[in-house]
Amino acid sequence: MYNCVAKTLHGLEEVLAGELRDINAENVSPGRRVVGFSGDLEMIYRANYNLSTALSILRTIKSFNISKAADLYSRAVGFPWESIMAVGQTFMIVPVVNSTLFKHTGYPALLLKDAIADRFRKKFGRRPSVDQNKPDIVLNCHISGKEVNISLDSTVIPLFKRGYRKYQSQAPLNEVLAAGIVRLSGWDKKITLMDPMCGSGTLAIEAALFARNISPGKYRDFFGFMNWHDYDRDLFIKIMKEAKKKEKDECPEIICRDIDRNSINISKENIRSAGLGNNITVSRADFLDKNTPGGEYFIIMNPPYGERIDPEDIEGLYAGIGERLKHAYPGSQAWLLSSNMEAVKKIGLRASGKQTLYNGKLEVKLLKYQLFKGSIKKK
Ligand SMILES: C[S@@+](CC[C@H](N)C(=O)[O-])C[C@H]1O[C@@H](n2cnc3c(N)ncnc32)[C@H](O)[C@@H]1O
Repeated sequence: MYNCVAKTLHGLEEVLAGELRDINAENVSPGRRVVGFSGDLEMIYRANYNLSTALSILRTIKSFNISKAADLYSRAVGFPWESIMAVGQTFMIVPVVNSTLFKHTGYPALLLKDAIADRFRKKFGRRPSVDQNKPDIVLNCHISGKEVNISLDSTVIPLFKRGYRKYQSQAPLNEVLAAGIVRLSGWDKKITLMDPMCGSGTLAIEAALFARNISPGKYRDFFGFMNWHDYDRDLFIKIMKEAKKKEKDECPEIICRDIDRNSINISKENIRSAGLGNNITVSRADFLDKNTPGGEYFIIMNPPYGERIDPEDIEGLYAGIGERLKHAYPGSQAWLLSSNMEAVKKIGLRASGKQTLYNGKLEVKLLKYQLFKGSIKKK
């Protein structure tokens, strides 16, 4: 059993913890943008392949305390690095440092690199080389105060890079964020889901994967653990086959719409590349147009935030969204993601739920609107 850490985005820790419990990980403990767990190699493979809200999976290989910078070298030089990498492999160290013991983040990485190199030279007369671009092995050196955690990155290419997105429209959502939003919304995988401002189709694709129980790892052909000396290909094939067996054919209707012709084409390409063409319908429509058909849906939308748009237009857009939601979608539940709280006020509907997330560096709110049928009489 190894101590592991799954990294995620702010606000998705509990969702990821739930996903980890679903795959029977042990000692699941959510933290800040991370969830700790323990598991064997099989669990590490499974976590990489199955989890939709993890960014990467780290396997802790050494933890210790230091009282001065030089301790990092002396503690690390005694570690059997030859059990982690071969002399002919390349490696890279990613430092994550929050400690007064080091003035520069690069210094602990240098100390660790020297310790690894010296250990190898002493034992074999040769050492593995550092490669910052395409290393075989990636080590993460996390230092918080006096606590050092060195881990092996089993993912390397972050898990949001699913592999199905061939093209992207302006401001696409990170796939991990989209998967997290679908789960946070509590969609029951039964009622028709609609994204009326779909851009590249990320929310709809992640919703379809969720509904059909398709592992997001299915589209990737590389995970960091494949370069580990103990890589068990048969075990990984077994995990992929098991995941395939759990896929469901049935999927509720999922609708993508967008006003922009280019976004429609991009969504179609991405949906086709994910093999979800039978599950998601795509059409061009202006959400604000009174002729666009409404109905009772589970709506998840990510309208423009107004970063590049005249503030009056953006407030007009949000006012129009509110008007349409109220009049064309009675009985629906709508979830809206935006960073523009001034524009959100123009929606004119009371949000019954609010959650803070981050879209890249931008703080965003995920807002829930329950759209009632008929008017609610005031007492
Ligand atoms: C932030 S992007 C959505 C990104 C998307 N979630 C993704 O992952 O790619 C906003 C989208 O809203 C669309 N949009 C803006 N106004 C619209 C309207 N009135 N009706 C429908 N779509 C609209 C834009 O064309 C754009 O594709």
